[in-house]
Amino acid sequence: MSGQAWATVLFLGWLTMSCAHPAVHPVSEEMPDPHSAIFVERCTSCHNLEKIEAAHKTKSKAEMRETLVRHKDMEGSGLTEQDSRALLKMY
Ligand code: HEC
Repeated sequence: MSGQAWATVLFLGWLTMSCAHPAVHPVSEEMPDPHSAIFVERCTSCHNLEKIEAAHKTKSKAEMRETLVRHKDMEGSGLTEQDSRALLKMY
């Protein structure tokens, strides 16, 4: 193999390696705005919006959906079927 071919192989190898860092959570999808009306009305009686903002930074949409499903069954969450559907649609 010529020197140039080796250089190509090394370069391609380097390219592949530099892409081998999959994100822990694919948070590239845009998360809903936690300051929108439904969040302010439904989600601030037990904790503040910072909890949701923080979760948006670390959780995937699927994990946020799980959190919401868990919340619906929380005592006193006040989340109606309609609220849950609207929220789940955003994630
Ligand atoms: C009934 C009170 C209550 C309401 C209303 C409420 N939460 Fe929570 N939330 C909690 C409690 C308690 C926790 C901490 C325990 C837990 O994570 O299960 C929590 C934790 C969270 C977390 C962090 C969970 C984690 O696993 O890190 C997120 C995100 C969250 N809430 C989002 C929301 C959103 C979005 C809403 C509005 C739809 C909402 N919460 C409304 C009680 C509530």
